[in-house]
Amino acid sequence: MESLYIRVPKKAGEEVRRKLIELGAINSDLKIKSGDGFLLIPVIKPVEGYDIEKGDFEVLEKQKSPEEILGFAPAYEQVGDIAIIDRYEPDAKRIADTLLRQNRIRTVLQAETSVSGEYRTRGLTVLAGERKTETIYRENGCRYLLDVARVYFTPRLATERLRVANQVRDGDTVVDMFAGVGPFSILIAKKFPSARVIAIDKNPDAIHYLRENAKLNRVRNIEIREGDAREEVKGLLDVGHVIMNLPHSVFEFLEDALRIVKKGGIIHFYAIAHEDDLFEGILNKIEETAGRLNLRIVPLDRRVVRPYAPYQYNICLDFQVI
Ligand SMILES: C[S@@+](CC[C@H](N)C(=O)[O-])C[C@H]1O[C@@H](n2cnc3c(N)ncnc32)[C@H](O)[C@@H]1O
Repeated sequence: MESLYIRVPKKAGEEVRRKLIELGAINSDLKIKSGDGFLLIPVIKPVEGYDIEKGDFEVLEKQKSPEEILGFAPAYEQVGDIAIIDRYEPDAKRIADTLLRQNRIRTVLQAETSVSGEYRTRGLTVLAGERKTETIYRENGCRYLLDVARVYFTPRLATERLRVANQVRDGDTVVDMFAGVGPFSILIAKKFPSARVIAIDKNPDAIHYLRENAKLNRVRNIEIREGDAREEVKGLLDVGHVIMNLPHSVFEFLEDALRIVKKGGIIHFYAIAHEDDLFEGILNKIEETAGRLNLRIVPLDRRVVRPYAPYQYNICLDFQVI
């Protein structure tokens, strides 16, 4: 099929392709051609800075989406090349076989239990594809190796993690009390090479992956501590940011966090709240705890992060301690 196209050196091909997607200029129905060190990228309109030529291109066969195949949009969570289907999904096997036809999915798992226990993990069985539970997941420019059956992980907090990371300043000390495989800690350590990041988790499997992920992302300014957060934070002082991402039992650790944070430091506090009282009850409890230590808190931000269960929400409060 005839199309307009631009010619770019192969080396710059990927960068230009992304730019064209951003500009809405690429013709994604046609196949990019290559030859003589150049890529010929079909476009739907002229692009500033490039000469426009005309040529013939092969039409790409469109892959049908799972929704088109099944007749409904299946609910699943994707972590790297693994898809996870809810445990109550009656059509799980049919959905699994359909998802497996997607390029990026190699394994489809079904949850057998809800997320539970101290380590916040869940039982999973293989429904289709490769029999594996380990994958590499990419988020906010970092890569995370993880085993979805042995550690807690959700891709749904990606924006939240970036939001917290953006509040850190170079030179800050950051304590991630419940770090898991490191999606807050590694991102912060990578963004701010002169920050000191202390990442804690009690689950030995999470610690194994955290260490692997520090290597994978080439971050050195991270101290990884395996153990109970209450014990591991002892002796720390003047911490600029404390991340408390253990929503079900976060209050048990609040005093320990308040003791290590510096004057003006910030606590990022995750909790589960009922829709009838999303923030006030929790804020009162935080103020009470701070009061016992002769501290005051100044709320900075409050947000619903995501729905958690009927009438219940995962919320985040950022507050300064003075
Ligand atoms: C909800 S997950 C959060 C993980 C990570 N922040 C993330 O965003 O993926 C909570 C983590 O806290 C860890 N954990 C639970 N109790 C702990 C404790 N007493 N001390 C340290 N870590 C704990 C669990 O093993 C789990 O990895």
